[in-house]
Amino acid sequence: MKTTIKSSQAAVRTPLGMNRELERDLCTRNHITKPLLALVRFTKSLEAREGKQTFFDKLFPNAKIVRVKNRRHQSMDAIYNWEPGKGSGLRGAVENKMFTLRNCQALRNRYRLVVGTLESELIKRVEQKEIKMLSVAAGSARAVFDACYGHRDKIHLLTLFDNDPTAATAAEATASELGIPAKAVTGDAFQILEHTDSLKEQDIIEVIGLIDYLDDHSVRRLFTDLKKLLKKDGVIITSHIHPNEEIEFVRTVANWDASMQYRDAQAFALLLRSCGFRHAELIQEPHGIHTVAILEA
Ligand SMILES: C[S@@+](CC[C@H](N)C(=O)[O-])C[C@H]1O[C@@H](n2cnc3c(N)ncnc32)[C@H](O)[C@@H]1O
Repeated sequence: MKTTIKSSQAAVRTPLGMNRELERDLCTRNHITKPLLALVRFTKSLEAREGKQTFFDKLFPNAKIVRVKNRRHQSMDAIYNWEPGKGSGLRGAVENKMFTLRNCQALRNRYRLVVGTLESELIKRVEQKEIKMLSVAAGSARAVFDACYGHRDKIHLLTLFDNDPTAATAAEATASELGIPAKAVTGDAFQILEHTDSLKEQDIIEVIGLIDYLDDHSVRRLFTDLKKLLKKDGVIITSHIHPNEEIEFVRTVANWDASMQYRDAQAFALLLRSCGFRHAELIQEPHGIHTVAILEA
């Protein structure tokens, strides 16, 4: 991914160019989701075999990336990079509606909250000689880079941990372009303690877009392990997705992983409490679809 820094827009945009303003548009509702659901069901019924390109995918190439790469970093980037009004013509107008559905707006809002939260945690540590950061399930780590860019001189090492080797190495290349000292580590988050020597004493651990797919037992197991990698006064930044009216659309049209565990805000807070954190600060984005949490062990 080639990244351009737009320094002149720093006040309203993040260093990597994301508009910082939270999206709150409620206009895209059933009038768009219902016809699209019907169209996808129809094209699925025409599909001769799984994986064959459907009429729907041919018609909407940007939406296809989200459908085919679901849960992977490419689909996240397609949503993060979408700017309202990007598409042209009738197809573009429909895609624009899809990429501005509340779940897409909420995902970009989560990104903005993660950037803001990481930036504040980095600012709190400016007096430190150096800062160690770990991104678990890093994907393209765009939000992490966005937050780190202004503090890159302070970063001792940012570790990008992902079980997809292509994600981790592509992210490492982007970090190098941006001048952020980063190292890719490929591995399973549930085996992360095997890397204890290189990963211990982290100031900030970010784990976004992973616990949404885990059952309660696995979430507790993961946080128990991650706490062992934190420095005293270190923090974990995580997030969760909540039940919302677009779940069927997300499963069918976006082809999103059916294992997604939608927990409401209260269940998320209770789950975090059961993980034994000393303090948890929760910030919900305006659609109430994602909450970002700052956790002190
Ligand atoms: C939904 S993406 C989120 C990426 C990024 N954190 C973000 O917020 O854009 C999930 C990422 O988790 C990675 N992943 C899934 N299961 C994992 C596991 N058990 N261990 C490590 N990485 C995992 C995937 O490869 C993918 O890059």
